[in-house]
Amino acid sequence: MRKAPSLALLCIQALKLELLQGGNPVPDVYELPSELLDAVVARLPALALHNFQTHMPFKRCDDYESGGDDCLISGRKRARNDVLASSWKGLFKLRWPEHTNLVEPPPAEWRQLYWEKHLQDCVDEAAEAAMRPTFCGRIGSISVSGKYKILRYICHEEHTSCRQQCVCTELSFHLQTFGPYLRCLRLLNALCVTETCELLRTSRLQTLVLRWIRSEKHVEPLCKLLIQSRETLASLEFIHCKLSSSFISAICASLHGKDIHTSGIQRFCIKTSSIDMDPLAAPSAFISFLSSVRSLRSLHICDSHLDRHIARIVFSTLLDSSSDLSYLDLSENNVSGWLSTFSWRSVNGSLSSGKSLESLCKLNLRGNELDKYDAENLAHALLHMPVLESLDLSGNPIEDGGIRCVLKVPAFVVLKSTSAELHFSYMLVVRCRSLISYFTKNPNSLLADLNLENCELSCCGVIEFLDTLSTLEKTLKFLSVADNALGSEVAEAIISSLTVSIESLNISGIGLGPVGFVELGEKLVKGVKKLLSINISKNRGGVETGRFLSKLIPMAPKLVSVDASYNLMPPESLLMLCDALRSAKGDLKRLDMTGNSCISLEAGHSSSLLGEFQHSGEPIFLLPSSSASHVPYDDEP
Ligand SMILES: *[C@@H]1O[C@H](CO)[C@@H](O)[C@H](O)[C@H]1NC(C)=O
Ligand SMILES: *[C@@H]1O[C@H](CO)[C@@H](O)[C@H](O)[C@H]1NC(C)=O
Ligand SMILES: *[C@@H]1O[C@H](CO)[C@@H](O)[C@H](O)[C@H]1NC(C)=O
Ligand SMILES: *[C@@H]1O[C@H](CO)[C@@H](O)[C@H](O)[C@H]1NC(C)=O
Repeated sequence: MRKAPSLALLCIQALKLELLQGGNPVPDVYELPSELLDAVVARLPALALHNFQTHMPFKRCDDYESGGDDCLISGRKRARNDVLASSWKGLFKLRWPEHTNLVEPPPAEWRQLYWEKHLQDCVDEAAEAAMRPTFCGRIGSISVSGKYKILRYICHEEHTSCRQQCVCTELSFHLQTFGPYLRCLRLLNALCVTETCELLRTSRLQTLVLRWIRSEKHVEPLCKLLIQSRETLASLEFIHCKLSSSFISAICASLHGKDIHTSGIQRFCIKTSSIDMDPLAAPSAFISFLSSVRSLRSLHICDSHLDRHIARIVFSTLLDSSSDLSYLDLSENNVSGWLSTFSWRSVNGSLSSGKSLESLCKLNLRGNELDKYDAENLAHALLHMPVLESLDLSGNPIEDGGIRCVLKVPAFVVLKSTSAELHFSYMLVVRCRSLISYFTKNPNSLLADLNLENCELSCCGVIEFLDTLSTLEKTLKFLSVADNALGSEVAEAIISSLTVSIESLNISGIGLGPVGFVELGEKLVKGVKKLLSINISKNRGGVETGRFLSKLIPMAPKLVSVDASYNLMPPESLLMLCDALRSAKGDLKRLDMTGNSCISLEAGHSSSLLGEFQHSGEPIFLLPSSSASHVPYDDEP
């Protein structure tokens, strides 16, 4: 027989329904004894909790968590805020369990996060409806009660009565009611219409991401939204969009309006889109956006068919700009040749007074078809980026000529040693710029992170480069030369660079082979005190990989992570590494052994290894799963 519900439960139920209907609860409710009130709060669905909190008399105490000091805090009110915050957190985690490893916000922000994410779900569902060819209604009347069961989440089991009695099935209700909580929004083309701007009037957008905007008809509504959000908007992103000259012009004009200094935009990003702009007639609004928006900190134009002409305009405009740009990302385009005029300007000694490059910390040029001439020009440009810390040149065919000077003429010059020819050779030497000369001429450079992955480098270039680094006192912390065919000869230079300052080295896929690992082991005589992580995967080192590692691990006291995957290591390597780990006093957290054949140990043995070697409760070894143990004994496809 079912137990009859208690009187308290019945009261809570009645209160819940009242709150769901948006009613202003009798003020006495808030005077209920603490335990009872807490019990009420803990059982309220989101919409009811929202109404409860909105009508709560001690409004000013909402600010308590964020430090509002004009709030008269009694222990009771403070406790109430804690209960409310933990209710919001509970509701959030219940609804989006997949997001539970998100960085914990301050307790008072769970409510905001809840409604922000809720609105994104509503908007996504509405966009699906609006994209159907048969759709012809108002955006605001789109029902959000369908697929995502949104009402069941915000009204709980009362959602049927909720549906009958309130307008909360419609998108407009949600945007208007919870709009003030909306700071970030992703919008699909179908919703980029004037009505959406009206519906978003109460929100204070800081981040706006637009997707699939490809038709001119969306431009005007978008500009309207930008103008409306101008005071708060800090980040704007376009993905899968088609941006014509006039489109870009309209966007930039909306961002800063008449008074260019009022824009607060900090991050402008175009990704996986296409830009269709005549380099001879780049829109002036775009130029003035780049050159005058002081707040701009990061600019990304990635994978968007950016060519050298536009890249040159962007770059030279930034040179003259008054912003404090710190991150420039032009990755995955084709800008080869873009800096050829830059050298001209600096050779003439007429560099502008702009300070954008002076503040640049991070430059990403991955995958841009850059060749050795581009690299040379870049090395020159680097001199004008005094605080650059990170440079990504990966995936560009710069070859050895991109990192060192190759002078083929001197022999010819000496043969004919007239004074004029000698002068000529002197000029050549002076003008030779390269990454190597950048380091030797700038011993105080802040550049700490350099990615030269897959740059068609050979062992000659890399040996010279590493040897140069080893002579400098202060140099790179993170270096990747992965995926260049360097071979075993590079081993000695690698060890000498490790003993200097490198903290993280990526030499995955450089063709070391067993010989390379033997060399590495032989040259390793001094401790490598700074090394934190090393990636030696895909080098087909076989048993020598394990031998090298068991020598390295005890000599690298700070080593935290090793990736030794896909090295054709046989089972005995694992035993060797176990011995090394037992004797080392290090801090190793992770040793990746996947893609090797060490698993042919009996299953029982490998689980006891996982048990013996742990760091903060996590196994240190990442072993190949037994089902994968019959994968080919090789890393080649
Ligand atoms: C990159 O651009 C250059 C010059 O604009 C052109 O010659 C080259 O074919 C382009 N490369 C690719 C892969 O598109
Ligand atoms: C740099 O100097 C050369 C020759 O002196 C001149 O032809 C060129 O126009 C100058 N470039 C700039 C950007 O001033
Ligand atoms: C090392 O290089 C590989 C291959 O280019 C890359 O996928 C990986 O992310 C890099 N790892 C580190 C730690 O830099
Ligand atoms: C090491 O490089 C490989 C690619 O060669 C990459 O897949 C892996 O993620 C890298 N390891 C780490 C720890 O970054």
